[in-house]
Amino acid sequence: MKKINIAIDGPAGAGKSTVSRKVASELGYIYIDTGAMYRALAWKAIHSNVDIQDGQVLSSMLESTNLQLTYAIDGNRIFVDDNEVTDDIRSSEVTASVSAVSAHAGVREKMVKKQQDLASSKGAVLDGRDIGTTVLPQAELKVFLTASVEERAKRRHFENVEKGRSSDLQMIMNDIQLRDDKDSTRKISPLIKAEDAVEIDTTSLSADEVAESICSLALERI
Ligand code: C5P
Repeated sequence: MKKINIAIDGPAGAGKSTVSRKVASELGYIYIDTGAMYRALAWKAIHSNVDIQDGQVLSSMLESTNLQLTYAIDGNRIFVDDNEVTDDIRSSEVTASVSAVSAHAGVREKMVKKQQDLASSKGAVLDGRDIGTTVLPQAELKVFLTASVEERAKRRHFENVEKGRSSDLQMIMNDIQLRDDKDSTRKISPLIKAEDAVEIDTTSLSADEVAESICSLALERI
């Protein structure tokens, strides 16, 4: 069967990763969490005491970093220079720094290249902010997921609680608004819906319902 690439973009907490994993598993595709790649670089910057405002240093650090993603049924596992950072990249410290790290042109250029390489054989679901506009502008299916800020914050909060992480709903809401603002207003590849993307408001939908709709759209294109 013909394989396609699926681009899933949207703001923080819109359910992109849960839905992308489900779609990938249903279609037998690989799933690439591009946010995790930016988080991994932010993690390394913090641990190497690198200034997250210094795009040149970050970009050369990325060049010399062995950044690996492996595919597991419950999502990607992420390795930085052979250290697993899958859980560590979800810390509040990384979350607070990642939008600054991802705003640098040199960083984005290298990350986009890596992401395009990972998707080059087709049969991939990528989620992020600029997949439909910049990483895979030729993707056969582009989806833009949205949900109200309140709903997105609640989902993050319950996910944290479920995983035994400490969590404060109001702080999550503030963080989401701040990140949306930074990601949407940055100069390079800001978070915007690609013109040809299908927009799905997930506020009152379950992850299974959203994944089902995306799979139907994908099957129309295969
Ligand atoms: O998807 P997630 O919330 O983990 O992404 C973390 C951050 O990485 C985003 O807030 C954004 O700054 C950055 N990002 C990006 N482009 C992508 C994916 C994520 O700039 N394709």
